[in-house]
Amino acid sequence: METLINEIALLLRTRRVALGWTTAELAETLGVSRPRVQKALDDMRELGYGLSATGAGAIRITRAPDRMIDTEILAGLKTRIFAKNLHCYNRLGSTNTRAIELAESGAAEGTIVVAEEQTGGRGRLGRNWHSPPRLGIWSSVILRPQVPLQRASGLSLLAALAFAHSAESELGLKVDLKWPNDGLIDGRKVLGVLTEVSAETDQVYFAVCGTGINVSHLPTDFPQSLRQTAGSLAMACGYSVDRLAFYRAFLSQFETLYRGFRRDGIAPFLDDYRKRSLLLGHEVIVTQGHLTIQGRAITIDENGALIVRDGRKNTVIFAGEATLREQ
Ligand code: BTN
Repeated sequence: METLINEIALLLRTRRVALGWTTAELAETLGVSRPRVQKALDDMRELGYGLSATGAGAIRITRAPDRMIDTEILAGLKTRIFAKNLHCYNRLGSTNTRAIELAESGAAEGTIVVAEEQTGGRGRLGRNWHSPPRLGIWSSVILRPQVPLQRASGLSLLAALAFAHSAESELGLKVDLKWPNDGLIDGRKVLGVLTEVSAETDQVYFAVCGTGINVSHLPTDFPQSLRQTAGSLAMACGYSVDRLAFYRAFLSQFETLYRGFRRDGIAPFLDDYRKRSLLLGHEVIVTQGHLTIQGRAITIDENGALIVRDGRKNTVIFAGEATLREQ
């Protein structure tokens, strides 16, 4: 978004809220001409801002736009690490790809990349992730946990758990988690997580944790191939959901869990995750490329791996696609 709009939105939001700002005051404070401020205010209305002016010409924001723009994401966000650096795009190939580029050039932990639309959104196992404009939250965060590679898969579980907590606290929705990291509501997939890691065996350099959250989709917004299985927060609630408010809640939940993870690992969160698991206690089929493992899903261990028991043999599974076996 244009810097001037950002700066104006920030001033209108954060200072002298009671009094409001006149065009002349904005121009003087920002060191630009009044016509430029006027033009920026018109552009803000186009973006979806509601702006009102008092008799004395003082301007106030009456409605915020449903847009993934930095001023709006940051308004009221109470995180300490996440979103200190925030890269917002209108359209991007993949937020994970961009975040990896930034991480490789040294971007700090907590840096976030978010896009209104992804033209090449990536899912697990080489799949695509449907990421149409303005309907969802397509976002990636750079993390630099001091853990061995084996522990990094716990990050996806944390993201899924953060989603479940936010959906419950913000919207009263019950989320089922399907190992490793799908979030389902009423049997439909609403959340997908793709964590990509740069590491040596004993040290993670960085992890990019990308989350796709379907927020405002109606069934017809999904392509035919996804219509039976995908859902959105709005479909689950039956009313429209404030995307930005949900995103802020998710970031704050995720950061809280992540700070706990940095201190104590995944162990303190496992019971919470297990309680929400769709698979545990059930007969499952897990595929890993050409390999298929069948058995009863008995637990998820401290590395985030799924343990499947077949007779007396336990298999520890770090990655794969799991489904419930028809009885
Ligand atoms: C899956 O369930 O297959 C994982 C989907 C992950 C999608 C998100 S959207 C934001 C981030 N950028 C990507 O390209 N993918 C992830």
